[in-house]
Amino acid sequence: SFTPRVFSGIQPTNHLQLGNYLGAVKRFVAMQNDGMETIYCIVDQHAITANFQNPADLRHATRELAAAYLACGLDPAKSILFNQSQVPAHSQLAWVFNCVARMGWLNRMTQFKDKAGKNAEKASLGLYAYPSLMAADILVYHATHVPVGDDQKQHVELTRDIAAKFNHDYGVEFFPETQPIIEGAATRVMSLRDGTKKMSKSDPSDASRINLTDDADTIAKKIRKAKTDPEPLPETTEGLADRPEARNLVNIYAALAEITPAQVLAEHGGSQFGSFKPALADLAVDKLAPISTEMSRLMGDTAEIDRVLAAGAERAAAIADPIIAKTYDIVGF
Ligand code: ADP
Ligand code: NA
Repeated sequence: SFTPRVFSGIQPTNHLQLGNYLGAVKRFVAMQNDGMETIYCIVDQHAITANFQNPADLRHATRELAAAYLACGLDPAKSILFNQSQVPAHSQLAWVFNCVARMGWLNRMTQFKDKAGKNAEKASLGLYAYPSLMAADILVYHATHVPVGDDQKQHVELTRDIAAKFNHDYGVEFFPETQPIIEGAATRVMSLRDGTKKMSKSDPSDASRINLTDDADTIAKKIRKAKTDPEPLPETTEGLADRPEARNLVNIYAALAEITPAQVLAEHGGSQFGSFKPALADLAVDKLAPISTEMSRLMGDTAEIDRVLAAGAERAAAIADPIIAKTYDIVGF
């Protein structure tokens, strides 16, 4: 009964990395071009939850992420593109959801445990409440589909739990049951230095990831130095089962080339990494260089980026504000 509507977001912290591109933005573009109604946010309010952000750096990262969205093919004529802090409805709904979500639900969030580390007492209240704000980001648009990487699955499930409890407590069918869309070969791109950790823009090791701002030489060098084992590539995907580093490079190749991992191995099975890595580097440079060139061009006119974001925020608020008004009415405000 809910109109299909796609929402997703990325935090403006550091530079966008290959996992964000393959697991998220590339799929945002595909959904946009499939003709679905698409809303893509730069979640700057989430960006201050984990660490203090220098204001100038945060502003720069927000514009750079907007440039990345545009350079990757998001089109303001087809998608609503904006930053979260410019649409107050997100925080308004988050407060209501803070009162719907249970402490026990938030206690189970593995990302909080990862990000807070051993010293949870020192973590911000915002980091703890992050999934509740994320639920508000999604549900303030009544979004039905959320393309994300595998690491966000638990947060989208929490979003569904919050919607269900709100609907149940108030006796309404107001918020939809949102579906996470986690698809393709690159739903969890791993660190190039450690096959057990996901690639992340907040990893302290720059060598662990490929940034969309890296030049061709840097990309090639990071791939050449990626951790691998001494065996040649297997002929079939079963042979990747207990080889996380090899599997990761094959998955990256597949996602960049838009083929399946089996097709990658049909071509490269039996190859040594000494020949597969240069092939992967060439492919990565081929796909990423035009994006980084376009990002630099767009960053030359930040006023234009600000105009795109301001126009997007207005369109986003036009959807979110009536949903907040109705929520307040349901709650009794
Ligand atoms: P990061 O962990 O790099 O700071 P975010 O938390 O801002 O990234 O996530 C933005 C989007 O990118 C989310 O949809 C997330 O699931 C996706 N994503 C992040 N890292 C990866 C990865 N290594 N592989 C696939 N998708 C990822
Ligand atoms: Na669209």
